[in-house]
Amino acid sequence: MTGLLDLVGGTPLVRLQHTAVHAKLEYLNPGGSVKDRAALSMVLDAEASGALRPGGTIVEGTSGNTGLGLAQVAAARGYRMVCVLPDKTAVEKLDALRAYGAEVVLTPSALPREHPNHVMRYAQRIADDRPGGWRADQYDNPANPAVHFRTTGPEIWEATEGRVTHFVATIGTGGTISGTGRYLKEASGGRVRVIGADPVTSAYGGGDGSPFAVEAAGHYVHPQTADDLWPESYHRDVVDEIFSVPDRDSVHACRSLARTEGLLVGGSSGTAFAVARQVTGDCVVVLLPDSGRAYLSKYHSDTWCRRQGFLDGDLDTFVSPVVTVPVGTPAAEAREALASSGQPALPVVLAGRSDRFPPAAGEVLALLTADELTGSGVVGPAPTPPVGVGVGETAADALARVPDDASVFHVVRDGRLAGLVTRGALTRL
Ligand SMILES: Cc1ncc(COP(=O)(O)O)c(C=O)c1O
Repeated sequence: MTGLLDLVGGTPLVRLQHTAVHAKLEYLNPGGSVKDRAALSMVLDAEASGALRPGGTIVEGTSGNTGLGLAQVAAARGYRMVCVLPDKTAVEKLDALRAYGAEVVLTPSALPREHPNHVMRYAQRIADDRPGGWRADQYDNPANPAVHFRTTGPEIWEATEGRVTHFVATIGTGGTISGTGRYLKEASGGRVRVIGADPVTSAYGGGDGSPFAVEAAGHYVHPQTADDLWPESYHRDVVDEIFSVPDRDSVHACRSLARTEGLLVGGSSGTAFAVARQVTGDCVVVLLPDSGRAYLSKYHSDTWCRRQGFLDGDLDTFVSPVVTVPVGTPAAEAREALASSGQPALPVVLAGRSDRFPPAAGEVLALLTADELTGSGVVGPAPTPPVGVGVGETAADALARVPDDASVFHVVRDGRLAGLVTRGALTRL
């Protein structure tokens, strides 16, 4: 008789029909993602070392699949589980954790790593305060990459009978690519090439660390982060090459896997697949980390894709240019930037860095006219965040959902700021 946790790992490798790529279906783990492997491995390791004892409490700061994997293991092995999550986490995820009996603690999203209420620090405090508390710490726990060296790598090697030539995966904590990649390199005498697939602005692939649309993969850097530390679970020496993938490509690749291959997977699977299908090699293997069920209201939703500008539509031709300045810019300097742009533009106030990429939609914190840029103060966020409309929306859809008193909106294309549109232009469309 098989126990539930014996079902972790041993996932199938399937040949795709429309590209010469083999896909490792990690959504077929019992908890629904690749993270079941790391969760079980970290718990078994902590039991063996005595860090986690019977009746103890597992604590982790995570908005994603690791929380679900740990909650599953906690329920199956009789531990309490506390999960610390950013308050923007989708309600379905919170409910899924609660369904496993986990305690959910929310903390504000978008805090720099140094802040005492940053998810990781908060989780550590809870682990320290609770008797029998243990923080799994997937980012720096060697049991995370180790399980992929022990299981995922050998599974791929055996399923391909040693013929695998390329392995493609996204990098979150780095556990998957580091452990699997290291095994495949060792088994093949260094022949297998290990390729990272990274969201466009993620720092792993050389981006500026500003926000990107794909969840759970890549490395975001909060603008106030002083020391950007990369996870110890990520072993850079294993990865031969990293491809940066525009969010649009990830989203479309994710949707196409459902429509053309019958594989309903998440956004990071789209990122990985967008790279794998470009790689030429005798036997390319891509790892698909989780199911699309958790993202039906995001990547798989036409409405979401239109609002984020991942699908094209009406608004593109009515976008006018903007001037962007970071929060904290002196008003005089913002006025000067506006005047010298020679455009009848509104400045847009941002939280983040915008030196390499247009700001992400969520970084647009205020829309200010020249008249509003008076005095000697500094520009700051608006009391209520400005409303964005997607290039893929129809004018009628956009008008139906924007507040009555707003007269200008920022336009979002590929999840990023494309410009501005006025209510008047929308009404005339
Ligand atoms: C959906 C999804 N994709 C990719 C990753 C990245 O995997 P890793 O943390 O092993 O690098 C994760 C990790 O949580 C994930 O949940």
